[in-house]
Amino acid sequence: MQRAKRLGLIPPYLFGEIAKMKAAAIAEGRDLIDLGIGDPDQPTPANIIDKLTEFSHDPSTHRYDESNMGPTEFLADVAKWFQGRFGVTLDPTCEILELIGSKEGLAHAAWAFIDPGDVALVPDPAYTVVKVNTLLAGGTPYEFPLLAENNFLPDLFAIPGDVVKKAKILYLNYPNNPTGAVATREFFQQAVNFARETGVLILHDCAYSEAGFDDYKAPSIMEIEGAKDVAIEFHSLSKTFNMTGWRIGFAVGSPEALRALNTIKGNVDSKAFAAIALTAGWALNHARNDDAMALLKRRRDVLVDGLNRLGWNLKKPEATFYVWLPVPPGYTSATFAKALLEKADVLSIPGLGYGPHGDGYVRMSLTVSGDKNGEMLEEAVRRIEKNVELKW
Ligand code: MLT
Repeated sequence: MQRAKRLGLIPPYLFGEIAKMKAAAIAEGRDLIDLGIGDPDQPTPANIIDKLTEFSHDPSTHRYDESNMGPTEFLADVAKWFQGRFGVTLDPTCEILELIGSKEGLAHAAWAFIDPGDVALVPDPAYTVVKVNTLLAGGTPYEFPLLAENNFLPDLFAIPGDVVKKAKILYLNYPNNPTGAVATREFFQQAVNFARETGVLILHDCAYSEAGFDDYKAPSIMEIEGAKDVAIEFHSLSKTFNMTGWRIGFAVGSPEALRALNTIKGNVDSKAFAAIALTAGWALNHARNDDAMALLKRRRDVLVDGLNRLGWNLKKPEATFYVWLPVPPGYTSATFAKALLEKADVLSIPGLGYGPHGDGYVRMSLTVSGDKNGEMLEEAVRRIEKNVELKW
């Protein structure tokens, strides 16, 4: 057997590697506190599960979904939600595309827009899927830095002109994984201006739009005048309603770009289970996940306050599940994550896994299985204080 050469271009999947480390630690009988993957630990709200049962009993959902962009009711539900949530009117016949989760959409977008030799502008650090699929499609990722001093917002106009000339797409992601940063409407306006001036298509990952704390409401790039001409935005129900396993999301925006993405999808997948899509559409307009969000906020407060007592100077993230923690002096992201795991049985993700500018950070996720009210985060802080050398 000979594997395709393109597989040699990509590193092992970050979360697959983390899952292996976790399994090994558990097999050794260690009592791990898992602050690794951002996977909501609370169940999907019961009324969503009931709705799935109802739709699953409709045999018409059991067959192939032969619609073009997704079931009509689902697309209408997304349009309704988008109007209410962001004040943006979407045409459900051409400005919404069902996805099997936003990860699938972000990955296939590279295949829809990147030819060998093309450049994709990729944030550094970033969710690994965007860079990897650029490489698989034969493209060249140009990584632009997200820096703490700029609140992890990029200076797009600082990207060299010769790079921009070769660039076809620009990946953005706010609220941001892994940094927890949020974007302002002014930033989105700049990004739209950049896309208009350069002809680069914006692919905005907005999977964490509903994971906001303290009344923070993330904007959509679609709120910016003209965004629909130069951008598509990816949404997911995974993080909003604890539905990571359900695999359902959608993209909105430029009809032409959505058609291109759908050309890839039509030849690769056969859409989500229609009962899941219909349930997702219903959930957007009827379900709430307030208790889970309140628990995440409590955990955020416990973790950030606790780490600040140990010498950090962290701001509480306004959205996402992530605390992006600068490593103490004397460590790299890898050595600090190793020390946390080996000395304190705390699993975090080394920032280097998200790109070169992630070195110097580890990411801690607030989605901790078994935690009822922040007590496991308190315990994580205690273990770090007791077992990990911190020299400020
Ligand atoms: C993460 O931990 O970054 C995410 O949960 C991964 C994902 O959404 O695929």
